[in-house]
Amino acid sequence: MGKGKILVTGGTGYIGSHTVVELCNAGYEPIIIDNLSNSNINVLEGIKTITGHPVTYENIDCKDYNSLERFLEKHSEIVAIAHFAASKSVGESVNNPLLYYRNNILSLINLLQLMAKFNIKNIVFSSSCTVYGQADVLPVTEQTPIKPASSPYGSTKQMCETILQDAAFANKDLNAILLRYFNPIGAHPSAEIGELPNGIPNNLLPYITQTAAGIRKELSVFGDDYNTPDGSCIRDYINVVDLAKAHVVALNRMVEGQNKKNIEIFNLGTGEGVSVLEIIRTFEKATGVKVPYKIAPRRAGDIEKVWADTSYANKELGWKAETSLEDTLLSAWNWQKKLAEKNLGN
Ligand code: WQD
Repeated sequence: MGKGKILVTGGTGYIGSHTVVELCNAGYEPIIIDNLSNSNINVLEGIKTITGHPVTYENIDCKDYNSLERFLEKHSEIVAIAHFAASKSVGESVNNPLLYYRNNILSLINLLQLMAKFNIKNIVFSSSCTVYGQADVLPVTEQTPIKPASSPYGSTKQMCETILQDAAFANKDLNAILLRYFNPIGAHPSAEIGELPNGIPNNLLPYITQTAAGIRKELSVFGDDYNTPDGSCIRDYINVVDLAKAHVVALNRMVEGQNKKNIEIFNLGTGEGVSVLEIIRTFEKATGVKVPYKIAPRRAGDIEKVWADTSYANKELGWKAETSLEDTLLSAWNWQKKLAEKNLGN
């Protein structure tokens, strides 16, 4: 706890909660604010079980400038912010764009204005490979041209990156690191925390684990007629704990003054592209559990294939995804079984 306080917005969410655990392991004191719009307060129990001590939490909505300001008045000595709080469903954003623009953009602007007021100099921002759209050349590097987003969700990530770049240009005291996640999957090896989507999962892995658990009848594979070896879409699936560890590395980099520019961008992936059908086969091999599926029509907004060139993050951050796909898929299954024991998550 001696390394200082880190404000974790959205810290009861999937990536946020795993990052809170790794921050504790690294000697920081994480403080969580979350409005619980897409997460469950029980996550705090899981974090406490893993780390051995409770984490400070307050129910605050980052869109509410005044409550955020009152919170920061109470919590001085915050050395950095890890900003996860955002809406993140591609499909939902198409149907409800204003919710996404309001939530994802206003939250960031409030935080940046209050960082200046309270002299908080460092922020890690949760971005996404979605900003690339369907790249012409693979793997994508941090210099791959950004294409028009294929959803309002992707637009908000692109806009937030622009806001951070402009804010860092205007204020040399502001340090920002933008982490472009590929596809986070899996759960903490303790099975005390993991992905806990509300309602019917949008993302592939929770749908697979719920199908394997019999909660869902069968998985729909959204298209097998893409220009890929087996016809299904390809993504770069990264273990959530490996991803969380990259956030600690990025925060250390700024807190210790090691960042080379006051705005830096890193791809966080494994560098390996894996198809939907390969994920199903690998899950069945790793767990011994069948996943009934059918081939369904393509999903609007899906890109065909994307995976990361991770050499810049590997070299500059000294960070690399380490967990195998099999172990990651097994962690997701172990978490699903734990949820059933706790009668949660379906
Ligand atoms: C992966 C693949 C689907 C469900 C999005 C965001 C990204 C990040 C992760 C927040 C695709 C296929 C899925 C299903 C399927 N969001 N699929 N049947 O869309 O790559 O990325 O979520 O951090 O920013 O863009 O992830 O898991 O939804 O889909 O066939 O029931 O699985 O078509 O090819 P996606 P996903």
